[in-house]
Amino acid sequence: MLGNKQVQKIKIRHVEEHDLSVCYNVESVCYTSDAATKEKIKKRIQLFPDGFLVAELNKRVIGIINSGSTNEEDLTDEAFKDMVGHVADGKNIVIFSLAVLPEFRRNGISKKLMTKFIEISKTLKKEKILLICKSGLIPYYQKYGFLYGGKSKSRHGGFEWHEMYLPLCVK
Ligand SMILES: CC(C)(COP(=O)(O)OP(=O)(O)OC[C@H]1O[C@@H](n2cnc3c(N)ncnc32)[C@H](O)[C@@H]1OP(=O)(O)O)[C@@H](O)C(=O)NCCC(=O)NCCS
Repeated sequence: MLGNKQVQKIKIRHVEEHDLSVCYNVESVCYTSDAATKEKIKKRIQLFPDGFLVAELNKRVIGIINSGSTNEEDLTDEAFKDMVGHVADGKNIVIFSLAVLPEFRRNGISKKLMTKFIEISKTLKKEKILLICKSGLIPYYQKYGFLYGGKSKSRHGGFEWHEMYLPLCVK
């Protein structure tokens, strides 16, 4: 566990182009067959930096959250993870990755990332945040108010996925 002083030093900021390698490192350490390629991470940084945040401790990136935006509700579209069909002003925002390096987990870092992400999604006037997750993380997302949308048809990475959505009620 990090001490209080270290936790207070954690900064959440928007991604920048030079963060590509460190973001890809977090992605590949935290995911297995479902990890995004470096090319995909690059597109997400270039095409939608507004929806891509990093957690930094002492100038080291230790956590990420990234997304795309769309008017669609279909979360099984693999091409969308490659930002095909991404429209920055789409009504929904779809989280692709939320990841914290293993040695920094359980310090509230993903909570900081997610809280800021929800705040930004509201500022961007998105109607809903959508994502798919593995069954073990359903309660995790419910803590933020996400609702269960049913089992996904996606078999991304060879896993079984569940749909979750957070209505933002922004008028
Ligand atoms: C899931 C993950 C992002 C959590 O990161 P973290 O920084 O350890 O999470 P936090 O410390 O901010 O925890 C926030 C809350 O969620 C809970 N939580 C954390 N990990 C959890 C898990 N795996 N399952 C259920 N609850 C969890 C914490 O207890 C905490 O609850 P509290 O606010 O009531 O105290 C991290 O374990 C990870 O990177 N996993 C691998 C990638 C992954 O599966 N990402 C999710 C994509 S669908």
